Amino acid sequence: MTLPQDAPAHAVKTVIVPAAGMGTRFLPATKTVPKELLPVVDTPGIELIAEEAAHLGATRLAVITAPKKQEVLEHFKRFPELEATLESRGKTEQLEKVRRANQLIQPVSVVQEEPLGLGHAVSLAESVLDDDEDVVAIMLPDDLVLPMGVVEKMVEVREQLGGSVLCAVEVPEDEVYNYGVFEIEDADYDGPYTVKKVKGMVEKPSVEDAPSNFVATGRYLLDRKIFDALRRITPGAGGELQLTDAIDLLIDEGHPVHILVHDGKRHDLGNPGGYIPAVVDFGLSHPVYGKHLKRALRQILEEHGA
Ligand code: UTP
Repeated sequence: MTLPQDAPAHAVKTVIVPAAGMGTRFLPATKTVPKELLPVVDTPGIELIAEEAAHLGATRLAVITAPKKQEVLEHFKRFPELEATLESRGKTEQLEKVRRANQLIQPVSVVQEEPLGLGHAVSLAESVLDDDEDVVAIMLPDDLVLPMGVVEKMVEVREQLGGSVLCAVEVPEDEVYNYGVFEIEDADYDGPYTVKKVKGMVEKPSVEDAPSNFVATGRYLLDRKIFDALRRITPGAGGELQLTDAIDLLIDEGHPVHILVHDGKRHDLGNPGGYIPAVVDFGLSHPVYGKHLKRALRQILEEHGA
């Protein structure tokens, strides 16, 4: 697939989706079902990400998967027999749902043989990029960042400031140890968003050592230089090759890195504690299930004395 001739030079062609993690926080479900296929109401998380990538205008979804997680890619294939059955039974709504993932974007499979870390997973995607791609977006399928469109804003910030732009949220200070945390200063930015310049980045620091409470949240717009930095880092937190360390290396070498502070909603689908509220949130907005769910939730809350 090629971009139209008049596409701007900054256009993001490829969205990298690292999905080769073991999903241990979601066991036992993830013994056989990849967490990216767990449904948010009725749609797997990976399809929501594909929708966001298509919305951005990307044409290629580079999905990093483990050898035993190939079902994630299967979700994007055509299912001719199922489609024929639904068609013959006049089930047009269901037919559209079956076809949707296939029509959104071109998925490309990249296999990570061993879970050596997010940085390692991202580094593997370089092999599927075209020579003229000077920027890539990374979307972590665990994170839903709402409303859709935050990477479009990050593209605008990159147009003005260059370099790489990351999405950040503010979390309570005692929660920082779960995240990649930014050391920040004021940015020389003139525009509608809250943007800060990043001086450094540290993966999962202790609460005492955390440089701020601004943390990375699953959306990255990275200059192609990231792949060179990924080749030069060594295993960090948890013995894994960390994307955070490669970004920190780029900053040390003078590459401009900024954060866009997201002021909308965010759900963490990577563990049951974040997944359940996400499903409730999407369920309450659902045209079919919303009304009943609201009633059911009121009753459940009452039963729990809340
Ligand atoms: P996480 O650490 O949150 O995911 O990685 P995980 O390893 O699947 O989760 P737990 O801790 O075992 O429950 C963040 C993202 O990076 C991907 C994951 O799939 C997830 O989308 N990842 C992580 C890889 O693709 N490869 C890796 O080696 C590690």
